Amino acid sequence: MIFDEFTIKSLIRPVPGFPRDGVTFRDITPLYQSPRAVRMVTDSMIQRYVESPVTHIGAIDARGFLLGAVLAYELNKPLVLFRKAGKLPADCVSAAYSTEYGEARIEVHRDALTEGAQVLLVDDLIATGGTFLAAAQLVDQLGAQVYEAAAIIDLPDLGGSRLIQDAGIATFTLCAFE
Ligand code: PRP
Ligand code: ADE
Repeated sequence: MIFDEFTIKSLIRPVPGFPRDGVTFRDITPLYQSPRAVRMVTDSMIQRYVESPVTHIGAIDARGFLLGAVLAYELNKPLVLFRKAGKLPADCVSAAYSTEYGEARIEVHRDALTEGAQVLLVDDLIATGGTFLAAAQLVDQLGAQVYEAAAIIDLPDLGGSRLIQDAGIATFTLCAFE
């Protein structure tokens, strides 16, 4: 199926003032209600990574799980969950970060990745880049490498994708809202 950026963008709903004043929230729930749009997004990502050296899919809590799980299934790779603090039960490494509208801590199981792993980090959106950079820090701490940071949406005005690239990590996004 051919990727149609106009259709994808039209299914991402802007919600001004959520979760606080000054933020326009980009809501992906309409996109996920369209099987055709989900297929377009998934197919584009599969096409990009099917011949890549990616060994693991690292999906970011919570919206990154939606795309991450499907990519792991389709690419036949192990799925590693990067979760908000306090959710993973076994021994974890942990990193604090801030986003457009809050502060949080992200964790991954210490035994989820080892040296030599090439991790594709997946989320729905890049805003300030804080989340991806924190996850990348954990990948690095476990001796693995980030292959790329992939998301459906980029918000370039918030500078996150630039910051991630400046940290030496390639980014891939399917659409942007200026
Ligand atoms: C959102 C989004 C990304 C992150 C991007 O998640 O899904 O994970 O923010 O922002 P950043 O680039 O500034 O780090 P959120 O923290 O709202 O959590 P959720 O997925 O559980 O809703
Ligand atoms: N995460 C950080 N900023 C966001 C935004 N504007 N919309 C949706 N998720 C976000």
